[in-house]
Amino acid sequence: MGFNEFLITGNRTIVNPPLAVNNYGISCYACHSLEAASKTTVKFEGSGQVVDHPGVASVICGQCHQGRAWQGTVDVNIKKGYPAGDNATTIDKISSKIASTNPHYRAAFAALKAAESRIGYDYGDLTIAVDSTHPGGTDCMFCHNQHSTEVKFGSNCQPCHVFTSVADIEAKMNKFIPALEAELLLTIQQYAADNTTLDAAGKTKAKACIALNNDANPYWFKDANCDTVADNATSSGAYKSFTPRLARACYNLLVSLKDPGGFAHNEAYMKALLQASIDNLREY
Ligand code: HEC
Ligand code: HEC
Ligand code: HEC
Ligand code: HEC
Repeated sequence: MGFNEFLITGNRTIVNPPLAVNNYGISCYACHSLEAASKTTVKFEGSGQVVDHPGVASVICGQCHQGRAWQGTVDVNIKKGYPAGDNATTIDKISSKIASTNPHYRAAFAALKAAESRIGYDYGDLTIAVDSTHPGGTDCMFCHNQHSTEVKFGSNCQPCHVFTSVADIEAKMNKFIPALEAELLLTIQQYAADNTTLDAAGKTKAKACIALNNDANPYWFKDANCDTVADNATSSGAYKSFTPRLARACYNLLVSLKDPGGFAHNEAYMKALLQASIDNLREY
């Protein structure tokens, strides 16, 4: 049942989901079965790419912690508005049919292996999509206890770092991502609020303010009075005025926000993604 059924069939639609029925959590057998022990690869369902021997724990943790979307999903959702794909004349045109994309949650393995997952929208710049280069490799167990999932600190990290707690890791190492996230959100809001009707290139875009509520799916909401607070943070208040450019930037912000350990899992990648979206919005 559950994870074990997935390991046997490879099918992500589980016939007997134990969590839904009994709320058991992940049993010992999920990770210590013969099927789990013989697993040597992780396939990213989004990009279709396969990582061979990613590490003793990562080969298990990565089956789940890989997100459920990749940059291709964003383009699929944009094609709901522009079936042939967008181009220079449609990139800043609103379509109510463009759906926002949710990367899903805590996709740590996808961040560590960004070159294969391509979880963020990299605008075709392959220098962005690089794997983590943290010494010790990308196995989750290098930094997390495989059972409690707690982050290790102290002697495990020495002599390279001296950390006294997980909060200390945050304080010392998480220096860039929160500021970049805030800058991207501001740039997103400015872009959406721009009411340029027709510029020199003939691009049109109506004013349609957008608000983020990181605690309520689908996260992006209408904001009629442009006060940056969602009018109605439920699915009926969902933002419906995406342009292709906006859909990509909003997706990248969620990729970063939905991995609270992004600064540790692949800081260089997260920084580059956020910056690429800021730069792309500013091209408008
Ligand atoms: C999320 C996956 C996962 C779950 C669930 C899990 N384990 Fe583990 N366990 C691992 C990994 C990864 C290792 C390290 C590699 C190995 O030894 O196979 C490990 C190692 C072990 C070890 C040997 C090393 C150690 O930490 O002592 C024991 C014993 C163990 N697990 C028992 C259990 C028991 C009992 C449960 C259920 C209460 C359990 N595990 C649940 C992933 C898991
Ligand atoms: C069967 C799927 C699955 C596997 C395998 C799995 N996880 Fe998770 N993990 C989840 C889900 C789902 C959550 C979110 C649970 C929640 O929000 O209550 C989670 C949450 C977490 C958290 C956050 C816990 C917190 O306090 O918020 C960490 C850290 C984590 N997992 C690490 C790991 C590591 C390390 C491994 C491998 C040893 C692993 N997970 C294997 C599905 C999985
Ligand atoms: C280089 C060290 C490192 C590696 C390798 C690493 N992590 Fe993390 N992880 C961290 C740190 C540090 C945090 C942030 C913890 C915090 O601030 O509470 C974190 C946070 C997380 C979280 C979010 C917990 C939360 O608060 O919601 C999850 C889930 C997670 N890691 C899973 C994984 C998985 C799965 C792997 C392997 C695929 C992995 N990590 C590999 C260091 C690491
Ligand atoms: C063998 C040396 C070494 C060990 C051991 C080590 N690190 Fe690192 N770590 C580095 C280097 C080198 C960097 C990148 C340069 C920098 O920012 O300091 C780094 C960066 C980081 C970052 C910032 C993210 C990034 O990509 O720059 C975090 C978070 C981190 N380490 C957590 C840990 C944790 C937690 C442990 C212990 C479980 C640990 N490290 C063990 C060498 C190490």
